[in-house]
Amino acid sequence: MTQIYCAIDTPDVARATELARLVSDAGCGVKLGLEFFASNGPAGIAAVSKACPDAQIFMDVKFHDIPNTVAGALRGAARLGVAYVNVHASGGADMMRAGQDALVDESARLGLPTPKLLAVTVLTSIDEVALQSVGMQGPAKDQVVRLARLTQQSGLAGIVCSGQEISLVRAALGADLVLMVPGIRPVGSEVGDQKRVMTPKEAMDAGATHLVIGRPITGATDPAAAARAILETLS
Ligand code: C5P
Repeated sequence: MTQIYCAIDTPDVARATELARLVSDAGCGVKLGLEFFASNGPAGIAAVSKACPDAQIFMDVKFHDIPNTVAGALRGAARLGVAYVNVHASGGADMMRAGQDALVDESARLGLPTPKLLAVTVLTSIDEVALQSVGMQGPAKDQVVRLARLTQQSGLAGIVCSGQEISLVRAALGADLVLMVPGIRPVGSEVGDQKRVMTPKEAMDAGATHLVIGRPITGATDPAAAARAILETLS
């Protein structure tokens, strides 16, 4: 199983492809997000996928729109053959179900494996003051569990959550959900703009199924060696 998805945040397809090759040879998946997607679109994802056919790709584009539109967007993701793609859980159960159904339907039509759909609960950049300012009352953690439960009830594979939320979500919703966790820093590496970080081992021990790690790998002089060193801490 691919435990680490390397966040490749660049608008440059050549650089993304080079990094994807290095980290996928080392045993990591590749997370391509909005910075890459807004510049290069589906063709960019297809280019990385073609250059690294064995790499599992997480298309981190966090769709949030009416059910019909999200379903159409996710049909596009299914055609790209990605392993994971995501939406915002706050788009609601109908949106998540429509998205999940579209992924299953389009993948079956094309004879491709169905991408796993994840939902973002509360962005870690949103604190309680910001939550209140958009009309949400109560602790952010309650909102995380509420949206994680809605995600599970809507038939999705799992959620993207911070390390601090792993135990809470596991306790509330059991062992089956995929928990994809960013904000991970190997011992001794730069924290950068991440405020609350966990080591890879701490997050996996707490119940994460996958980790998102970007700059500690992509910023290393030898990204493949950095990726392998992190994977060794998990074995
Ligand atoms: O490991 P690094 O901090 O470089 O990873 C940053 C990546 O993780 C970015 O792609 C960012 O979008 C993603 N991310 C995050 N915090 C979250 C969710 C995603 O940093 N809560």
